[in-house]
Amino acid sequence: MSTEHSKIHPVPERLLDAKKVPPKPHIDSFEAYQKMYRKSIMEPEAFWGQLAKELLHWHKPFETVLSGGFDYGDIAWFPEGELNASYNCVDRHALANPDKVAIIYEGDEPGNDRTITYGELLRDVGRLANALKSYRLRKGDTVAIYMPMVPEAIIAFLACARLGIIHSVVFAGFSAEALRDRIRDASSKLVITADEGRRGGKTIHIKKIVDEALKECPTVEHVLVYQRTGSDVPFKSPRDLWWHEEIEKQRPYCPPEIVNSEDALFLLYTSGSTGKPKGILHTTAGYLLGAAITFKYVFDYHEGDVFGCMADIGWITGHTYIVYGSLCYGGTTVVFESTPIYPTPSRYWEVVAKHKITQFYTAPTAIRLLRRLGHQHVEGHDLSSLRVIGSVGEPINPEAWEWYNEVVGKGKCAVVDTYWQTETGSIVISPLPGAIPTKPGSATVPFFGVDPVILDPTSGEELHGNGVEGVLVFKQPWPSMARTVYNNHNRYLDTYLKPYKGYYYTGDGVGRDEDGYYWIRGRVDDVINVSGHRLSTAEIESALVAHDGVAEAAAIGVSHEITGQAVHAFVTLKARGENTEVKELVLQVQKGIGTFAAPKKIYLVPDLPKTRSGKIMRRVLRKVVAGESDQLGDLSTLADPSIIPTLINKVNQEQ
Ligand code: WTA
Repeated sequence: MSTEHSKIHPVPERLLDAKKVPPKPHIDSFEAYQKMYRKSIMEPEAFWGQLAKELLHWHKPFETVLSGGFDYGDIAWFPEGELNASYNCVDRHALANPDKVAIIYEGDEPGNDRTITYGELLRDVGRLANALKSYRLRKGDTVAIYMPMVPEAIIAFLACARLGIIHSVVFAGFSAEALRDRIRDASSKLVITADEGRRGGKTIHIKKIVDEALKECPTVEHVLVYQRTGSDVPFKSPRDLWWHEEIEKQRPYCPPEIVNSEDALFLLYTSGSTGKPKGILHTTAGYLLGAAITFKYVFDYHEGDVFGCMADIGWITGHTYIVYGSLCYGGTTVVFESTPIYPTPSRYWEVVAKHKITQFYTAPTAIRLLRRLGHQHVEGHDLSSLRVIGSVGEPINPEAWEWYNEVVGKGKCAVVDTYWQTETGSIVISPLPGAIPTKPGSATVPFFGVDPVILDPTSGEELHGNGVEGVLVFKQPWPSMARTVYNNHNRYLDTYLKPYKGYYYTGDGVGRDEDGYYWIRGRVDDVINVSGHRLSTAEIESALVAHDGVAEAAAIGVSHEITGQAVHAFVTLKARGENTEVKELVLQVQKGIGTFAAPKKIYLVPDLPKTRSGKIMRRVLRKVVAGESDQLGDLSTLADPSIIPTLINKVNQEQ
């Protein structure tokens, strides 16, 4: 690890020199961080109890801060408390400051933009919530949201939250089959969608995909369709309803349904080591508190700032930072519909300059892509509004970090490499802009209330001290952690709480260097991370095996310069499928999951390397693809070693 921590970047002068460029950071020294961190770990109840009162509006106050724990997964934060998430994200700010901009929309085509104030948002959310009520949707029902990146998607989130309806957002890049599975698992009664989406100048036929998915979704009673492009799309009355017609009928105020702190706020499906995606369930108060407090401290958000997160609302980053963190804290958030390179690779920087974005948040894959295209695309744009630039989704390599810092941040911004997961709800390891010196490639130190521990993966023993490597677990519950897997609490226990008793297990490998900084190594389970999108090998394999001609499939993650990892798959064909072409198999994965999951390479092989008990040895495949066939490791359990030279030949031929 010696090379890793050779370079330390101090907190940028500009952040500490509040006289020249206000504001003063919320936390402005390492000592201040340490003091607050210590309190959060030693006295979590006092720490979180006070913050929950400061950052959230309660309709009924709580008495207990935390009950339950990791043994049964019966964690409850603020259990007697009652509140409403949309009241916290909209009403209280609209009442205090109705003209403040809540949302800035930047459409796919430059020039197509608009803003929504908190006052307008309150009315928009009220109208939609009243429409939802008119379909007899009630607290505890689930609604699927399959929407492009338009402000109406946020209105849909909040209208559900207003009534205690559990939203289940499905990223609009998922295929009809993937959407169908998620609607069925959650028994959603309504789908909120759009006619079409626009991204990077291309049209996405969203409504058609929904229609395809709904062929096998008996629970869905209605489809509410927002007109994004106005094109002619299939429309099935009385099931389908137009958004604009429906809200026109409604009163713009809808009283919020006050819910318990632990009532569900939303479901978000994510991939794990096994085939079926899991509906990760987040509850109301703890999640909101985690979102708002990390928004405040990790992004050092101050009044008047404009927060620009480039993620899609279909992923947890969009949920927590574009929507809940930003709005719960009363901030101004950007909804960006396009891509970093449309119409040119300057798009991000035009958007930053135009809207005077102060905090900019994106993924390493976008940073690597823009770095490759050259710094000339960044130059000439006024990026002086930026104070904090963030990264999320996968480990960021030091070269990309340095480029981001120098070319985008001009050496004057805090770079925050934020580590977290769908399941953690909000950021758990990250620098704080005014307090933590950074090291390129390290997510640095734990956030308040997060107690990271490194375990030896085999013995499960805690590795104390610095300079250790192992798997990352957390020792104490924190407010925004997921509470269960929808309709499958045993799966929650088995995945997160049982692998190492007494801890929450992340599934990530990690190192702690000599200074106590954390370095996330990536997944140690069968999860592949492509451009920050989480995919499971099992999901890809089951999509492939669904093809008639396929006998068996093994998917692996292979490192890739831009996307971090890429999917490669090894496939054996059935005798009657011998004419199957690679093209068809790629299509098969696009159909089963979505285009973003398509394997970069598929090798058709006569057999897969298996143990004598029939388990596929993916480790061997990974080594073969990485060109490390001389380091295949222990092959004593391999059933048929003669397959190895065939695999090596096949891979060499195709590379
Ligand atoms: C990875 C995204 C290194 C990690 C918010 C984690 C990261 C998975 C980082 C969760 C980071 C996320 N450095 N790795 N800063 N951020 N990851 O659920 O492997 O889509 O377990 O949540 O992404 O992905 P998810």
